[in-house]
Amino acid sequence: MFALTYPAVLTALHVSTVAAQQFVLYSAGGDDTAVERIDPILAPGSISQHVHQVFGSNALASSVSYDSLQSASCTTMGGAGNVGIKQDNSIYWHPALYMNASDGSGYIRVPTNGHKLYYKNAGSDNDKKRDPFEFPQGFRMLAGNPFMRKAASDLQQQNITQWICHDTASNQGTDGGFPTGVNNCASTDGFNGAIHFPHCWNGDDFDPSNPSAHVVYPTGDIENGECPSSHPTRLPHIFAENTFDMNSVYGKVVQDSFVLAQGDNTGYGWHADFYNGWEEGAIPAIMNSCPYREYGNEDAHECTAFVQRDVNPSDCKLSVTFKENVDTPGHALPGCNPIVDTNPAPAHPIAAINVATNVCGAAGAVAASTAASSAPASSSTNTPSSSAAVSASSSSQASVSVSSSVPTTLSSKISSAAAKSSSAAGSSPATSVVKASTASVASAASSSTAISCPASNGTIYTASNGDQFQIECGIDHHAGDMGSKTTTTLAACIAACASTTGCVDVVLSGVACYMKSSLGATEFNDGVSGAKLITSSSSKAKNHVQSQSFGYTVTVTQSDIVYVTDYITVTATPTAMMGRRAHAHLHGNAKRAI
Ligand SMILES: *[C@@H]1O[C@H](CO)[C@@H](O)[C@H](O)[C@H]1NC(C)=O
Ligand SMILES: *[C@@H]1O[C@H](CO)[C@@H](O)[C@H](O)[C@H]1NC(C)=O
Ligand SMILES: *[C@@H]1O[C@H](CO)[C@@H](O)[C@H](O)[C@H]1NC(C)=O
Repeated sequence: MFALTYPAVLTALHVSTVAAQQFVLYSAGGDDTAVERIDPILAPGSISQHVHQVFGSNALASSVSYDSLQSASCTTMGGAGNVGIKQDNSIYWHPALYMNASDGSGYIRVPTNGHKLYYKNAGSDNDKKRDPFEFPQGFRMLAGNPFMRKAASDLQQQNITQWICHDTASNQGTDGGFPTGVNNCASTDGFNGAIHFPHCWNGDDFDPSNPSAHVVYPTGDIENGECPSSHPTRLPHIFAENTFDMNSVYGKVVQDSFVLAQGDNTGYGWHADFYNGWEEGAIPAIMNSCPYREYGNEDAHECTAFVQRDVNPSDCKLSVTFKENVDTPGHALPGCNPIVDTNPAPAHPIAAINVATNVCGAAGAVAASTAASSAPASSSTNTPSSSAAVSASSSSQASVSVSSSVPTTLSSKISSAAAKSSSAAGSSPATSVVKASTASVASAASSSTAISCPASNGTIYTASNGDQFQIECGIDHHAGDMGSKTTTTLAACIAACASTTGCVDVVLSGVACYMKSSLGATEFNDGVSGAKLITSSSSKAKNHVQSQSFGYTVTVTQSDIVYVTDYITVTATPTAMMGRRAHAHLHGNAKRAI
């Protein structure tokens, strides 16, 4: 039986004098996940940037919905002692953890050894609890931030991620990053990457262009603090403990050589995802029917509302869509993700399936010609979706990457734009479907002037809503993190900030646009460009957007970079979008610039 005991969570509990209502789901232990480059939230329908380990229901697919999750016949989660739960069809995932092989053969994936999920009624009494106290159907969210590479400047936010070897307390990363000196860590709970999910909700649906906008952590203590007025509704708090089996790789790996699948060797970029597939009413019923247990170990199976499934967690196997070598990928991580310790790390393009060590160029670049020939079969259909983007990567040959979820008309526009660009440069374009990532945000209104760094440093730029920003080339500011969006230009990044309540500063690193709610200490960083709000227009209509434009961006690299941008409009009310596909249609013209 797999049963984690209390240490990683002990201190997070008992903050209030009354035991929090909660229940705990356990997996059966072992390497109980589907391991692949899949991300049904950020890359629906296509391969994702880095390897995730997915657990939960066997309705896992590259694209899911609340309804599709209901077809699950089993889940890897349940009560302690390998008892399946019938009411939870959700899926959960986190990045895979790698270490360097001591024989020099490259990376080895550290297998997991079980998962434990705490569902809690935790937070401030001042919060407005959602009634019923459960997630809306199809609710999705991310915990942590894959681009982080250094500790959060807010001490309490450092507690979102917790790495600990339960052998000795000294094997704990103090500020959310990897600890050093971890050995085989063979204690019951092993080496644990724990993470808290946010639980303060603004009532909106998940927005693929701004994945972290709808839920935030409470102010202060990330479990028991108060929800901010921007996100006043409190949802159940999920705390996940994910155990890695260090003992199985001990002696074969270089000590302290941890790296997460997205190319993070700091551990600060630890993150997790949740796609809600719970039967309605089950969470509050189970939470309210559990006998109190010490250390927060309220085994869900002991709660009277728990309904047992006829398949045990240990017999539930999730099937893999994107098959490639994720266990011993060689000298590069699957997808060729380079190790980057710049904070925040720039976004890396999504490589095709099977793009791993033998085809990675220097610093993790993707060999596009290989990428072009190996798109998964599942990507050959064009299904409209609210989230899609395309990308290609550097190579002497042009490669076009078109998401499976890009509407046919758009993908043909992209292909023809790419063909033009590559014939202009004198080589034939590769044709392939490679990736989808989060859609980039495009401001529908045109911007007044082009921004370029360092030429525009210090100049004032007026966003389409009248907000004025001062350009800050090579400058980042600490703290105030409000999450990130994908944008290809500083102008689009500024537009995103201008339309976000509370945003006063942006920093663009690669295509990751970080929005900030405060202007913290200045940090010089040649790799970024930024802008700070100087004058805010009074005529803002921010939040609760009913209709939004998302841009598709194609990057075709030869000697030049060509951006092709098209727009779709996604129209739906936030509640109507919940758990359903947004209605999307194309409009506007492709714009092209070199
Ligand atoms: C972080 O969490 C631990 C317990 O999990 C707690 O003791 C500590 O006070 C927290 N740190 C901050 C700065 O809130
Ligand atoms: C692990 O291997 C990578 C590439 O193979 C190398 O760049 C890195 O320095 C190694 N890290 C450690 C801690 O040995
Ligand atoms: C931009 O201007 C600021 C303020 O003068 C300066 O500190 C910074 O170094 C400049 N950035 C670049 C890249 O020159």
